[in-house]
Amino acid sequence: MFQGKRILLIIGGGIAGYKALELIRRIREQGGHVTPVLTQSGEKFVTPLSVSALAGEAVHRDLFDLTTEAEMGHIQLSRSADLVVVAPATADLMAKMAQGMANDLASTLLLATDTPVLIAPSMNVRMWEHPATQRNIATLKGDGISFVGPNEGHMACGEFGPGRLAEPDEIMAAIIRQLCTRQVLTGKRIIVTSGPTHEPIDPVRYIANRSSGAQGSALARALVALGAEVVFITGPATAAYPEGAQVVQVESARDMQTAVMQALPADAAIFAAAVADWHVRSASDRKLKKSKDGLPVLEFGENPDILRGVAQMTDGRPALVIGFAAETNDVVDYAIAKRLRKGCDWIVANDVSPNTGIMGGSENEVTLITEAGAESWPRMSKAEVADTLVAKIAHVLNGTKDEL
Ligand code: CTP
Repeated sequence: MFQGKRILLIIGGGIAGYKALELIRRIREQGGHVTPVLTQSGEKFVTPLSVSALAGEAVHRDLFDLTTEAEMGHIQLSRSADLVVVAPATADLMAKMAQGMANDLASTLLLATDTPVLIAPSMNVRMWEHPATQRNIATLKGDGISFVGPNEGHMACGEFGPGRLAEPDEIMAAIIRQLCTRQVLTGKRIIVTSGPTHEPIDPVRYIANRSSGAQGSALARALVALGAEVVFITGPATAAYPEGAQVVQVESARDMQTAVMQALPADAAIFAAAVADWHVRSASDRKLKKSKDGLPVLEFGENPDILRGVAQMTDGRPALVIGFAAETNDVVDYAIAKRLRKGCDWIVANDVSPNTGIMGGSENEVTLITEAGAESWPRMSKAEVADTLVAKIAHVLNGTKDEL
Protein backbone atom coordinates (compact mmCIF):
# COMPACT_ATOMS: atom_id res chain seq x y z
CA MET A 1 0.00 0.00 0.00
CA PHE A 2 2.73 2.51 0.85
CA GLN A 3 5.83 0.74 -0.30
CA GLY A 4 8.99 2.55 0.77
CA LYS A 5 7.21 5.32 2.71
CA ARG A 6 8.92 6.36 5.94
CA ILE A 7 6.94 7.04 9.08
CA LEU A 8 8.44 8.62 12.18
CA LEU A 9 6.32 7.16 14.98
CA ILE A 10 6.42 8.98 18.32
CA ILE A 11 5.01 6.83 21.11
CA GLY A 12 3.86 8.88 24.09
CA GLY A 13 2.93 7.58 27.53
CA GLY A 14 -0.44 5.92 28.00
CA ILE A 15 -2.10 2.67 28.83
CA ALA A 16 -3.02 2.36 25.13
CA GLY A 17 0.67 2.33 24.16
CA TYR A 18 0.38 -1.36 23.29
CA LYS A 19 -1.71 -0.36 20.25
CA ALA A 20 1.38 1.41 18.89
CA LEU A 21 3.07 -1.99 18.66
CA GLU A 22 0.23 -3.31 16.54
CA LEU A 23 0.46 -0.16 14.43
CA ILE A 24 4.16 -0.74 13.73
CA ARG A 25 3.40 -4.28 12.61
CA ARG A 26 0.61 -3.11 10.31
CA ILE A 27 2.66 -0.31 8.72
CA ARG A 28 5.51 -2.71 7.96
CA GLU A 29 3.09 -5.28 6.58
CA GLN A 30 2.00 -2.64 4.05
CA GLY A 31 5.60 -2.05 2.96
CA GLY A 32 6.15 1.07 5.08
CA HIS A 33 9.26 1.82 7.16
CA VAL A 34 8.95 2.86 10.81
CA THR A 35 11.48 4.97 12.70
CA PRO A 36 10.34 4.72 16.32
CA VAL A 37 10.74 7.37 19.00
CA LEU A 38 9.75 6.59 22.59
CA THR A 39 9.14 9.34 25.15
CA GLN A 40 10.21 8.88 28.76
CA SER A 41 6.65 8.24 29.85
CA GLY A 42 6.09 6.01 26.80
CA GLU A 43 8.83 3.73 28.10
CA LYS A 44 6.74 3.08 31.20
CA PHE A 45 4.12 1.34 29.04
CA VAL A 46 6.01 -0.35 26.20
CA THR A 47 9.61 -1.46 26.26
CA PRO A 48 12.26 -0.10 23.89
CA LEU A 49 13.10 -3.72 23.06
CA SER A 50 9.61 -4.63 21.83
CA VAL A 51 9.37 -1.38 19.85
CA SER A 52 12.72 -1.82 18.11
CA ALA A 53 12.16 -5.55 17.52
CA LEU A 54 8.87 -4.85 15.74
CA ALA A 55 10.18 -1.81 13.85
CA GLY A 56 13.37 -3.63 12.85
CA GLU A 57 15.27 -0.49 13.82
CA ALA A 58 16.77 1.00 16.98
CA VAL A 59 14.38 3.15 18.95
CA HIS A 60 15.32 6.81 19.52
CA ARG A 61 14.88 7.97 23.09
CA ASP A 62 17.29 10.78 23.98
CA LEU A 63 17.72 14.26 22.68
CA PHE A 64 21.40 14.25 23.49
CA ASP A 65 22.29 10.80 22.22
CA LEU A 66 25.82 11.41 21.00
CA THR A 67 25.90 8.53 18.55
CA THR A 68 22.68 9.65 16.90
CA GLU A 69 23.83 13.27 16.90
CA ALA A 70 27.07 12.28 15.20
CA GLU A 71 25.38 10.07 12.62
CA MET A 72 22.25 11.96 11.81
CA GLY A 73 21.14 14.59 14.29
CA HIS A 74 17.65 15.21 15.53
CA ILE A 75 16.94 17.82 12.86
CA GLN A 76 17.61 15.35 10.12
CA LEU A 77 15.66 12.66 11.97
CA SER A 78 12.65 14.97 12.07
CA ARG A 79 12.79 15.50 8.31
CA SER A 80 13.66 12.03 7.08
CA ALA A 81 10.05 10.84 7.15
CA ASP A 82 7.10 11.16 4.79
CA LEU A 83 4.79 11.46 7.78
CA VAL A 84 5.17 11.97 11.54
CA VAL A 85 2.62 10.02 13.59
CA VAL A 86 2.16 10.56 17.34
CA ALA A 87 0.32 7.61 18.94
CA PRO A 88 -0.61 7.78 21.72
CA ALA A 89 -0.43 11.58 22.00
CA THR A 90 -0.75 12.63 25.64
CA ALA A 91 -2.26 15.89 26.91
CA ASP A 92 1.25 16.91 27.95
CA LEU A 93 2.77 16.27 24.51
CA MET A 94 -0.08 18.15 22.83
CA ALA A 95 0.42 21.09 25.22
CA LYS A 96 4.12 21.17 24.38
CA MET A 97 3.37 21.07 20.66
CA ALA A 98 0.82 23.86 20.96
CA GLN A 99 3.33 26.00 22.88
CA GLY A 100 6.28 25.20 20.64
CA MET A 101 8.31 23.74 23.47
CA ALA A 102 11.38 21.62 22.73
CA ASN A 103 12.67 20.14 25.98
CA ASP A 104 12.90 16.47 25.03
CA LEU A 105 13.43 14.44 21.87
CA ALA A 106 9.74 14.07 20.90
CA SER A 107 8.85 17.76 21.31
CA THR A 108 12.07 18.84 19.59
CA LEU A 109 11.36 16.60 16.60
CA LEU A 110 7.80 17.90 16.40
CA LEU A 111 9.03 21.50 16.41
CA ALA A 112 11.83 20.89 13.93
CA THR A 113 9.90 18.85 11.39
CA ASP A 114 8.67 20.14 8.04
CA THR A 115 6.71 16.91 7.42
CA PRO A 116 2.92 16.52 7.86
CA VAL A 117 2.00 15.43 11.39
CA LEU A 118 -0.87 13.12 12.39
CA ILE A 119 -1.70 12.72 16.06
CA ALA A 120 -3.83 10.11 17.83
CA PRO A 121 -4.69 11.50 21.27
CA SER A 122 -5.27 9.31 24.30
CA MET A 123 -6.11 10.60 27.75
CA ASN A 124 -8.64 10.66 30.54
CA VAL A 125 -11.99 12.17 29.52
CA ARG A 126 -11.67 15.13 31.96
CA MET A 127 -8.23 15.91 30.62
CA TRP A 128 -9.60 15.80 27.06
CA GLU A 129 -12.52 18.04 27.90
CA HIS A 130 -10.45 20.53 29.93
CA PRO A 131 -10.50 24.01 28.37
CA ALA A 132 -6.68 24.00 28.28
CA THR A 133 -6.61 20.83 26.16
CA GLN A 134 -9.44 22.11 23.96
CA ARG A 135 -7.46 25.35 23.41
CA ASN A 136 -4.41 23.31 22.46
CA ILE A 137 -6.44 21.18 20.03
CA ALA A 138 -7.73 24.32 18.32
CA THR A 139 -4.18 25.70 18.09
CA LEU A 140 -2.81 22.45 16.69
CA LYS A 141 -5.60 22.18 14.12
CA GLY A 142 -4.87 25.78 13.13
CA ASP A 143 -1.23 24.79 12.68
CA GLY A 144 -2.29 22.13 10.17
CA ILE A 145 -1.87 19.10 12.44
CA SER A 146 -4.24 16.21 11.57
CA PHE A 147 -6.11 14.24 14.21
CA VAL A 148 -7.44 10.70 14.36
CA GLY A 149 -9.72 9.99 17.32
CA PRO A 150 -9.98 9.94 20.23
CA ASN A 151 -12.90 7.54 20.46
CA GLU A 152 -15.61 7.49 23.04
CA GLY A 153 -15.88 4.52 25.38
CA HIS A 154 -14.93 3.03 28.71
CA MET A 155 -11.51 4.14 29.89
CA ALA A 156 -8.87 2.24 31.81
CA CYS A 157 -9.53 4.61 34.75
CA GLY A 158 -13.18 3.49 34.89
CA GLU A 159 -14.70 6.64 33.42
CA PHE A 160 -16.68 6.91 30.18
CA GLY A 161 -16.36 9.43 27.36
CA PRO A 162 -14.01 10.64 24.63
CA GLY A 163 -10.33 9.98 25.23
CA ARG A 164 -9.69 6.42 24.05
CA LEU A 165 -6.89 6.02 21.53
CA ALA A 166 -8.24 5.32 18.02
CA GLU A 167 -7.98 1.67 16.97
CA PRO A 168 -5.00 0.61 14.82
CA ASP A 169 -7.46 0.16 11.91
CA GLU A 170 -8.56 3.78 12.13
CA ILE A 171 -5.01 5.09 12.55
CA MET A 172 -3.94 3.06 9.51
CA ALA A 173 -6.79 4.54 7.47
CA ALA A 174 -5.73 8.05 8.53
CA ILE A 175 -2.10 7.31 7.62
CA ILE A 176 -3.17 6.04 4.20
CA ARG A 177 -5.19 9.20 3.61
CA GLN A 178 -2.18 11.34 4.56
CA LEU A 179 0.30 9.45 2.44
CA CYS A 180 -1.72 9.07 -0.70
CA THR A 181 -1.81 12.53 -2.14
CA ARG A 182 -3.51 11.80 -5.46
CA GLN A 183 -6.95 11.79 -3.87
CA VAL A 184 -8.86 11.77 -7.16
CA LEU A 185 -11.62 9.54 -5.75
CA THR A 186 -12.33 11.63 -2.64
CA GLY A 187 -16.06 11.80 -2.00
CA LYS A 188 -16.79 8.72 -4.13
CA ARG A 189 -18.42 5.75 -2.45
CA ILE A 190 -17.52 2.41 -4.02
CA ILE A 191 -18.71 -1.10 -3.18
CA VAL A 192 -16.36 -4.04 -3.77
CA THR A 193 -17.47 -7.66 -3.36
CA SER A 194 -14.69 -10.17 -2.87
CA GLY A 195 -13.74 -13.72 -1.97
CA PRO A 196 -15.70 -16.94 -2.20
CA THR A 197 -19.08 -17.62 -0.66
CA HIS A 198 -19.87 -20.56 1.60
CA GLU A 199 -23.15 -22.33 1.01
CA PRO A 200 -24.07 -24.45 4.02
CA ILE A 201 -25.02 -28.13 3.76
CA ASP A 202 -25.50 -28.41 7.50
CA PRO A 203 -24.10 -26.40 10.45
CA VAL A 204 -20.56 -27.77 9.92
CA ARG A 205 -20.32 -28.48 6.19
CA TYR A 206 -20.48 -26.14 3.25
CA ILE A 207 -19.82 -25.81 -0.48
CA ALA A 208 -17.14 -23.28 -1.39
CA ASN A 209 -14.73 -22.39 -4.20
CA ARG A 210 -11.02 -21.66 -4.57
CA SER A 211 -11.17 -17.85 -4.62
CA SER A 212 -8.64 -16.29 -2.20
CA GLY A 213 -10.09 -12.77 -2.41
CA ALA A 214 -6.67 -11.40 -3.43
CA GLN A 215 -7.92 -9.46 -6.47
CA GLY A 216 -10.83 -7.95 -4.54
CA SER A 217 -8.56 -6.86 -1.68
CA ALA A 218 -6.07 -5.35 -4.13
CA LEU A 219 -8.86 -3.40 -5.82
CA ALA A 220 -10.19 -2.08 -2.52
CA ARG A 221 -6.65 -1.01 -1.50
CA ALA A 222 -6.12 0.83 -4.77
CA LEU A 223 -9.47 2.62 -4.36
CA VAL A 224 -8.70 3.61 -0.73
CA ALA A 225 -5.32 4.92 -1.85
CA LEU A 226 -7.07 7.33 -4.21
CA GLY A 227 -9.32 8.58 -1.42
CA ALA A 228 -12.50 6.59 -2.15
CA GLU A 229 -14.85 5.55 0.63
CA VAL A 230 -14.83 1.78 0.12
CA VAL A 231 -17.35 -0.74 1.41
CA PHE A 232 -15.60 -4.10 1.11
CA ILE A 233 -18.11 -6.94 1.27
CA THR A 234 -16.26 -10.21 1.55
CA GLY A 235 -17.02 -13.88 1.83
CA PRO A 236 -14.66 -16.06 3.92
CA ALA A 237 -11.44 -15.14 2.07
CA THR A 238 -7.84 -16.03 2.90
CA ALA A 239 -6.25 -12.83 1.51
CA ALA A 240 -5.62 -10.01 4.01
CA TYR A 241 -8.44 -7.47 4.20
CA PRO A 242 -7.72 -3.98 2.83
CA GLU A 243 -6.72 -1.34 5.37
CA GLY A 244 -8.86 1.76 5.33
CA ALA A 245 -11.99 0.14 3.89
CA GLN A 246 -15.23 -0.57 5.73
CA VAL A 247 -15.16 -4.38 5.89
CA VAL A 248 -18.44 -6.31 5.91
CA GLN A 249 -17.96 -10.06 6.39
CA VAL A 250 -20.58 -12.40 4.97
CA GLU A 251 -20.89 -16.15 4.37
CA SER A 252 -23.39 -17.04 1.68
CA ALA A 253 -24.41 -15.45 -1.62
CA ARG A 254 -27.73 -14.44 -0.13
CA ASP A 255 -25.96 -12.69 2.80
CA MET A 256 -23.72 -10.95 0.29
CA GLN A 257 -26.69 -9.67 -1.67
CA THR A 258 -28.29 -8.27 1.51
CA ALA A 259 -25.03 -6.52 2.42
CA VAL A 260 -24.68 -5.03 -1.07
CA MET A 261 -28.25 -3.69 -1.04
CA GLN A 262 -27.63 -2.16 2.40
CA ALA A 263 -24.41 -0.53 1.20
CA LEU A 264 -26.14 1.24 -1.72
CA PRO A 265 -26.30 3.97 -2.93
CA ALA A 266 -22.81 4.12 -4.36
CA ASP A 267 -20.99 5.79 -7.22
CA ALA A 268 -19.56 2.50 -8.45
CA ALA A 269 -19.83 -1.20 -7.61
CA ILE A 270 -17.21 -3.79 -8.46
CA PHE A 271 -18.20 -7.43 -8.22
CA ALA A 272 -14.96 -9.33 -7.79
CA ALA A 273 -16.44 -12.06 -5.57
CA ALA A 274 -16.62 -15.64 -6.80
CA VAL A 275 -20.25 -16.08 -5.84
CA ALA A 276 -21.72 -19.56 -5.72
CA ASP A 277 -24.43 -19.94 -8.33
CA TRP A 278 -26.44 -22.31 -6.14
CA HIS A 279 -27.25 -22.87 -2.50
CA VAL A 280 -28.28 -26.14 -0.92
CA ARG A 281 -32.04 -25.88 -0.67
CA SER A 282 -32.18 -29.00 1.46
CA ALA A 283 -29.59 -27.60 3.98
CA SER A 284 -30.11 -29.14 7.40
CA ASP A 285 -30.11 -27.12 10.60
CA ARG A 286 -28.62 -30.09 12.46
CA LYS A 287 -25.46 -31.98 11.60
CA LEU A 288 -26.13 -34.81 9.16
CA LYS A 289 -25.18 -38.23 10.61
CA LYS A 290 -23.88 -40.90 8.29
CA SER A 291 -25.29 -43.64 10.49
CA LYS A 292 -28.77 -42.17 10.50
CA ASP A 293 -29.03 -40.12 7.31
CA GLY A 294 -27.03 -42.30 4.90
CA LEU A 295 -25.67 -40.81 1.65
CA PRO A 296 -26.96 -37.25 1.41
CA VAL A 297 -28.86 -36.16 -1.65
CA LEU A 298 -28.42 -32.43 -2.05
CA GLU A 299 -31.15 -30.40 -3.62
CA PHE A 300 -29.98 -27.06 -5.02
CA GLY A 301 -31.70 -23.73 -5.42
CA GLU A 302 -30.45 -20.84 -7.57
CA ASN A 303 -28.71 -17.96 -5.82
CA PRO A 304 -29.63 -14.37 -6.60
CA ASP A 305 -27.33 -12.87 -9.24
CA ILE A 306 -26.06 -9.89 -7.24
CA LEU A 307 -24.22 -8.23 -10.12
CA ARG A 308 -27.18 -8.54 -12.47
CA GLY A 309 -29.58 -7.21 -9.85
CA VAL A 310 -27.52 -4.06 -9.31
CA ALA A 311 -26.64 -3.58 -13.00
CA GLN A 312 -30.31 -3.67 -13.95
CA MET A 313 -31.61 -1.37 -11.20
CA THR A 314 -33.86 1.31 -12.65
CA ASP A 315 -33.60 3.53 -9.61
CA GLY A 316 -30.33 4.41 -7.87
CA ARG A 317 -28.05 2.32 -10.08
CA PRO A 318 -24.35 3.13 -9.47
CA ALA A 319 -22.87 5.12 -12.37
CA LEU A 320 -20.37 2.35 -13.02
CA VAL A 321 -21.08 -1.37 -12.49
CA ILE A 322 -18.20 -3.75 -13.09
CA GLY A 323 -18.31 -7.55 -13.11
CA PHE A 324 -15.66 -10.22 -13.31
CA ALA A 325 -15.82 -13.28 -15.50
CA ALA A 326 -13.83 -16.33 -14.56
CA GLU A 327 -13.73 -18.71 -17.51
CA THR A 328 -11.66 -21.69 -18.56
CA ASN A 329 -12.22 -21.47 -22.32
CA ASP A 330 -13.44 -19.00 -24.98
CA VAL A 331 -12.75 -16.30 -22.39
CA VAL A 332 -13.41 -13.19 -24.48
CA ASP A 333 -16.50 -14.49 -26.30
CA TYR A 334 -18.11 -15.66 -23.07
CA ALA A 335 -17.24 -12.39 -21.34
CA ILE A 336 -18.73 -10.24 -24.12
CA ALA A 337 -21.95 -12.24 -23.88
CA LYS A 338 -21.85 -12.03 -20.06
CA ARG A 339 -21.57 -8.22 -20.12
CA LEU A 340 -24.72 -7.98 -22.22
CA ARG A 341 -26.61 -10.61 -20.24
CA LYS A 342 -25.84 -9.03 -16.89
CA GLY A 343 -26.27 -5.44 -18.06
CA CYS A 344 -23.06 -4.20 -16.45
CA ASP A 345 -20.76 -1.54 -17.90
CA TRP A 346 -17.50 -3.45 -17.83
CA ILE A 347 -16.42 -7.05 -17.43
CA VAL A 348 -12.94 -7.97 -16.32
CA ALA A 349 -12.41 -11.40 -17.84
CA ASN A 350 -9.73 -13.87 -16.88
CA ASP A 351 -8.76 -17.43 -17.63
CA VAL A 352 -8.85 -19.48 -14.45
CA SER A 353 -7.76 -22.81 -15.95
CA PRO A 354 -5.60 -24.65 -13.38
CA ASN A 355 -2.44 -24.29 -15.53
CA THR A 356 -2.65 -20.44 -15.38
CA GLY A 357 -2.13 -20.38 -11.59
CA ILE A 358 -4.42 -17.33 -11.43
CA MET A 359 -7.03 -18.54 -8.96
CA GLY A 360 -5.33 -18.33 -5.58
CA GLY A 361 -2.12 -16.92 -7.15
CA SER A 362 -0.61 -13.42 -6.98
CA GLU A 363 -0.76 -12.62 -10.70
CA ASN A 364 -3.57 -12.07 -13.12
CA GLU A 365 -3.96 -11.76 -16.88
CA VAL A 366 -7.17 -10.03 -17.84
CA THR A 367 -9.14 -8.70 -20.76
CA LEU A 368 -11.29 -5.66 -20.09
CA ILE A 369 -14.60 -5.75 -21.96
CA THR A 370 -16.48 -2.49 -22.36
CA GLU A 371 -19.06 -1.21 -24.79
CA ALA A 372 -16.14 -0.10 -26.97
CA GLY A 373 -14.63 -3.57 -27.26
CA ALA A 374 -12.05 -5.86 -25.67
CA GLU A 375 -8.64 -4.78 -24.38
CA SER A 376 -6.17 -7.48 -23.34
CA TRP A 377 -3.65 -6.53 -20.66
CA PRO A 378 -0.31 -8.27 -20.20
CA ARG A 379 0.14 -10.64 -17.27
CA MET A 380 0.87 -8.58 -14.14
CA SER A 381 0.48 -8.70 -10.38
CA LYS A 382 -3.04 -8.47 -8.97
CA ALA A 383 -2.00 -5.15 -7.36
CA GLU A 384 -1.02 -3.77 -10.78
CA VAL A 385 -4.28 -4.98 -12.34
CA ALA A 386 -6.07 -3.18 -9.52
CA ASP A 387 -4.12 0.08 -10.02
CA THR A 388 -4.74 0.02 -13.77
CA LEU A 389 -8.45 -0.67 -13.41
CA VAL A 390 -8.88 1.90 -10.65
CA ALA A 391 -7.17 4.58 -12.77
CA LYS A 392 -9.80 3.92 -15.46
CA ILE A 393 -12.60 4.02 -12.90
CA ALA A 394 -11.32 7.41 -11.67
CA HIS A 395 -11.41 8.74 -15.26
CA VAL A 396 -15.02 7.71 -15.71
CA LEU A 397 -16.29 8.86 -12.30
CA ASN A 398 -14.58 12.21 -12.70
CA GLY A 399 -16.25 12.75 -16.07
CA THR A 400 -13.08 12.58 -18.10
CA LYS A 401 -13.39 10.42 -21.17
CA ASP A 402 -12.96 6.68 -20.83
CA GLU A 403 -9.43 5.89 -21.96
CA LEU A 404 -10.45 2.91 -24.07
N1 CTP B 1 -21.96 -12.77 -9.60
C1 CTP B 1 -22.84 -12.24 -8.67
N2 CTP B 1 -23.81 -13.05 -8.13
C2 CTP B 1 -23.91 -14.34 -8.49
C3 CTP B 1 -23.01 -14.89 -9.44
C4 CTP B 1 -22.07 -14.08 -9.96
O1 CTP B 1 -22.72 -11.08 -8.33
N3 CTP B 1 -24.85 -15.09 -7.95
C5 CTP B 1 -20.97 -11.88 -10.21
C6 CTP B 1 -19.54 -12.22 -9.88
O2 CTP B 1 -19.09 -11.48 -8.76
C7 CTP B 1 -18.81 -11.79 -11.15
C8 CTP B 1 -19.81 -12.04 -12.24
O3 CTP B 1 -21.07 -12.09 -11.60
O4 CTP B 1 -18.56 -10.40 -11.16
C9 CTP B 1 -19.58 -13.28 -13.04
O5 CTP B 1 -19.88 -14.41 -12.38
P1 CTP B 1 -20.04 -15.86 -13.06
O6 CTP B 1 -20.30 -16.81 -11.96
O7 CTP B 1 -18.87 -16.12 -13.94
O8 CTP B 1 -21.28 -15.64 -14.01
P2 CTP B 1 -22.47 -16.58 -14.32
O9 CTP B 1 -23.56 -15.68 -14.73
O10 CTP B 1 -22.71 -17.49 -13.20
O11 CTP B 1 -22.01 -17.36 -15.63
P3 CTP B 1 -21.47 -18.85 -15.83
O12 CTP B 1 -21.68 -19.63 -14.56
O13 CTP B 1 -22.24 -19.32 -16.97
O14 CTP B 1 -20.01 -18.67 -16.15
